[in-house]
Amino acid sequence: MRLPLSLLASLLVAAPLAAADGRGLAPLGPAEKVARMPQGAQVTCADGARVTVSILAADLVRVRTVFAGQPDEPDHSWAIARTDWPPPPWQLAETTDALTLTTAELKVVIHRSPLRIDFLDAATGRVINADQRPMARDAKTGRVAAAKRLGFDEHFYGLGEKAAPLDRRRGEFTMWNSDTPGYVEGTDPIYQSIPFYLGWENGRAYGLFYDNSHRARFDLGHTGQEAAVYEAEGGVLDYYFYAGPSMKKILGRYTELTGRMPLPPLWALGHQQSRYSYYPAAMVEEVARQYRARDLPLDVLYLDIHYMDDYRVFTWDRSRFPDPSALTKTLGDQGVKLVTIIDPGVKYQPPTDGRANRPGEPLSPHPELAPQADSYYVFNQGLAHDFFLRRQDGSLHLPEVWPGKSVFVDFTREDARRWWGGLHRALTDHGVAGIWTDMNEPSDFVDKSGASQKDVVFDDLGTHSLYGKNRNVFALNMARATYEGLQRLQPDRRPFVITRAGYAGIQRYSTMWTGDNNATFASLALNIPMFASLGLSGETFVGADVPGFIGRGDGELLARSYELACFVPLLRNHGAVDMYDHEPWRYGAPYEDIVRKYLKLRYRLLPFLYTTLEEAHRTGVPLFRPLLLNFQDDASLLNLDDEFMIGDALLVAPVVRAAERGREVYLPRGRWYDFWTAAPLAGGTMQRVDAPLDHLPLYVRGGSIVPSTDSMNHTGEKPWSPLRFDVYPDEQGNATGSLYEDDGASPAYLRGESRRTAVSCTRAGAATTVTIAAPLGPYRTAARHYELTLHAQPAGTTVLLDGRPLPEISSPSTAPGWHRPDARTVVVRLADDGRAHEIQFR
Ligand code: NOJ
Repeated sequence: MRLPLSLLASLLVAAPLAAADGRGLAPLGPAEKVARMPQGAQVTCADGARVTVSILAADLVRVRTVFAGQPDEPDHSWAIARTDWPPPPWQLAETTDALTLTTAELKVVIHRSPLRIDFLDAATGRVINADQRPMARDAKTGRVAAAKRLGFDEHFYGLGEKAAPLDRRRGEFTMWNSDTPGYVEGTDPIYQSIPFYLGWENGRAYGLFYDNSHRARFDLGHTGQEAAVYEAEGGVLDYYFYAGPSMKKILGRYTELTGRMPLPPLWALGHQQSRYSYYPAAMVEEVARQYRARDLPLDVLYLDIHYMDDYRVFTWDRSRFPDPSALTKTLGDQGVKLVTIIDPGVKYQPPTDGRANRPGEPLSPHPELAPQADSYYVFNQGLAHDFFLRRQDGSLHLPEVWPGKSVFVDFTREDARRWWGGLHRALTDHGVAGIWTDMNEPSDFVDKSGASQKDVVFDDLGTHSLYGKNRNVFALNMARATYEGLQRLQPDRRPFVITRAGYAGIQRYSTMWTGDNNATFASLALNIPMFASLGLSGETFVGADVPGFIGRGDGELLARSYELACFVPLLRNHGAVDMYDHEPWRYGAPYEDIVRKYLKLRYRLLPFLYTTLEEAHRTGVPLFRPLLLNFQDDASLLNLDDEFMIGDALLVAPVVRAAERGREVYLPRGRWYDFWTAAPLAGGTMQRVDAPLDHLPLYVRGGSIVPSTDSMNHTGEKPWSPLRFDVYPDEQGNATGSLYEDDGASPAYLRGESRRTAVSCTRAGAATTVTIAAPLGPYRTAARHYELTLHAQPAGTTVLLDGRPLPEISSPSTAPGWHRPDARTVVVRLADDGRAHEIQFR
């Protein structure tokens, strides 16, 4: 019998979905129709599902699947920074079994039946990654799933903030931003959700970013060894595949898509001291005074929730802080900035009759300083504009946070973000330098899980989507409101925002810290895989409470914590409300001395840290790195999570266990140097090293040139003068390095107001030549000297500067010349006159 075409079509549309698996997941149907698109292809399946494969770059492909019967959603994600990708050259080929999209780097093979997608290396045909089974959806719950074939020797990295080992293989992880004080290794989820991972197999990597903000789960060989499974509780299945094979290249692309970290102000690299909470103002001033009196560097003090009037955000408790501007001035005179906390919970406070200010009604110029007990300006304004989240029945969503019953702002609304951003005037007008956004999972003391908030509605670009889609991006949008507000309020300053929760893309707006950790050695050890994984997930400016938020720890923990934290972008000491004080001097002199030693080292290394931070800003390759990122083919590094590297040059092997006075250190292949003695060491081996309490095993990779300067009390105290370059030649006698400088405060660097100085070292026969290139870029530094130290330089008596002999000088001299502090080292002093110089050693 021949059926008319129209009937056949209607039968196909009505065809039942493919049989669901035991858990309700039904695979999408076989490919039926293929439409070529400007940037790829759209496959329509027999069941009506649509799979859109878009070529964004030769090494970046997006796969977006809308299943049969699934309502499509606007193609928008809060995570994405770049949507405009000029298509690279690509071809489409079709056979009866498959269609293949080919770029210069990738072949994407879409098998028609069952519909499975494989990603192959275009040059070699090697399968990089392949669907283990077709994508699937549970029509009843809306759950969507993908399963990728799991390689025997495949390892996984990234997934953002997880209290777990570096290698995610065999792990199971949930994406659901959660307030989890006192978390330990294995607590999952915690505060952030970054659904991006790197797969590694035989030295080659690829990346997968599942951009879906619903609660999601990754099973990376936890329940079986056949598939790496991803499941999200709703939304469309939308993922990006990155070809690699270099992890650094993938991170570059990932942060091109989700945005890179803007440079924070230089002071953000300074030492920061916090407490829950410092008050009154005199107490804050005393902490700053103690820091200076004790010769301990400090750049920032924090005010936690007790500075507010009864926890009302954007107000000041005038009995504790009678004159906030005077406080920031007193601190500023000592080079200390003030950062204040802001929570999302706005106290629910309907005004007593007739007191509310209406939209447009003039307020006193400083409502934040006025009493709020009768009428709270933030609540009034937000309510009048209808900026607060409501449930589906129209009632206000009333979570309970510090002020008791509260309301949350709908940060998916542009106008609400603008309003919230502008409210920070209450702080910046008084000289507050940065904003700490906390509790933004968002936490609700009544129900931290979010289970009872499913009917909370977000505007979400007019789609009015529900809580399940929006919880994970709440902090991202709040951080955005804060960042953009600070930009508008102080266009000549770089915003400084710190956040607890986040989603992919959070790095565009905020630095982060890892929440309420414990003051224990176990928690200290966890810092390394956590920071390394955050860096492998696009987040560079990270840190943890030192020496741990909950509990006191002891002097030994404090000392070891600073030895590690000295190299972490965000170096902040913080502790909980009912705990002992945590400042470095509270544990006694020997420990305070150790903290001082490492704080001074941190400030000495500012030129190196800032240069490395700028690299992260420019390339997406983080400052804090697992060794694997620098030695991607070294399989002994796959699960090494008690060492880390800073940039390409420094290897840090901190002691993270109580009572240990030594440890095993693995140095990858090549030449290394002990940082403290500059003694050369051969890599490729595990070595036992001594580590008394004041000693941090710290190494420099041969081939590096590390810029540094004198230590200082705070980052703005004095210019980097002299500017030192320590040259550590590799086995061939070569080395490279650079120095990045700008004003450290304004966004002018984005317009190119910076200065980059490249330095290199080469050996030819008995002669070693160090070249300091002419600095590039218009930014000018104050007059200063360079001090160049060439390590591992055997005896030799002639040093030429630009071809002319330099005199030998005594070490403390300020005149140009050279001296030998020991038999292996030559130090050369020369003026930084903005020109190129060549220094020859014979
Ligand atoms: C929770 C944060 O994680 C912690 O750092 C802060 O001190 C408290 N909230 C109080 O604001």
